[in-house]
Amino acid sequence: MKSVLSVQSHVTHGYVGGKAAIFPLQCRGWEVDNIDTVQFSNHTGYGSFKGRSTTSEVVESVFQGLNDIDVKYDAVITGYIPSAPLIELICGNIKRLKEKKPDMIYLLDPVMGDHGCMYVNESCISMYKKILHEHFIDIITPNQYELELLTNSTVRTKQDLIRSVGYLHETFRIRHVVVTSLENFEFNNKKNVLYCAVSDSKSGKRALFEVPVIKSYFTGVGDLFSALLLDRLYDLTRNGEDGNAEFQLWHAIIQVLNIMSKTLHLTRSIGIENYKQNQASNGKQVHDIESHINDKSMKFFELKVVQAKPFFSYDGMDDFSPIHY
Ligand SMILES: Nc1ncnc2c1ncn2[C@@H]1O[C@H](COP(=O)(O)OP(=O)(O)OP(=O)(O)O)[C@@H](O)[C@H]1O
Ligand SMILES: [Mg+2]
Repeated sequence: MKSVLSVQSHVTHGYVGGKAAIFPLQCRGWEVDNIDTVQFSNHTGYGSFKGRSTTSEVVESVFQGLNDIDVKYDAVITGYIPSAPLIELICGNIKRLKEKKPDMIYLLDPVMGDHGCMYVNESCISMYKKILHEHFIDIITPNQYELELLTNSTVRTKQDLIRSVGYLHETFRIRHVVVTSLENFEFNNKKNVLYCAVSDSKSGKRALFEVPVIKSYFTGVGDLFSALLLDRLYDLTRNGEDGNAEFQLWHAIIQVLNIMSKTLHLTRSIGIENYKQNQASNGKQVHDIESHINDKSMKFFELKVVQAKPFFSYDGMDDFSPIHY
């Protein structure tokens, strides 16, 4: 059975970080080991939360324990890591795991912020850059803002995108770059869409995919996305032929975008139903649902990861086609 180490945040209530990534990976046949970078009661967006970050001592000792029993992994995925020292410690241990098993795939999601707002300390930017300079990352999944932070640039146009993605390929020697969402970009002028950009340095192929925006208050989407991408890309590159490298990445992305779309539509519809029922039980009627979907109602719009289980086996090629740029 294929094995993956998932290093992510943990929430007791809700579905972000490991709670968004582990179950879908298990459904796809992965043996998942996980290390929690934080243990919080719930997502910080609720306005209140309790819990704490995992200390460096605990993380180091867990890696030591894994080393003592000589565990090896086929893949590693990292998500939210709250501080620069913890990034250094975790990535150093992952580098050693890769030295033990050089064909291990490492997907790094450089979770730092979104829409111009950082949710980790600024020192994390230079720490991620330092780690990337060590050249052991196979797949990276920044969103538009994280891409800008890692490349010290503004990404608004096709040319900006080509330059900054090229920088990740060349300077950091990362083969697969997936910019998970471009929302403030020349292409999405007036349209209610976001773009997902993929690039494979081995084949030299790149493409954009147009994703219709589903209106809601989603959290954990990036964590689910990167877990699904790791799974699809792992299977396609292991079973595929190198001559078709560009198709492997497109294939993987099209399947991931389909699963995301199905999961988010389901999350929105179950969320609306539950929210309306809750309001009705308090004697309130909901007339304009859109105006009710916000941070106050986010409890109802947590990713419906369990209900989405049937979608995780999707292996078609519907709905999304590459735009060459
Ligand atoms: N509102 C939305 N409508 C449709 N698809 C979405 C929406 N938000 C996210 N997605 C899907 O999820 C993918 C990842 O989203 P995004 O880039 O926003 O994640 P992230 O910024 O890394 O993480 P997060 O926003 O959870 O912090 C997108 O490529 C898209 O497929
Ligand atoms: Mg986002």
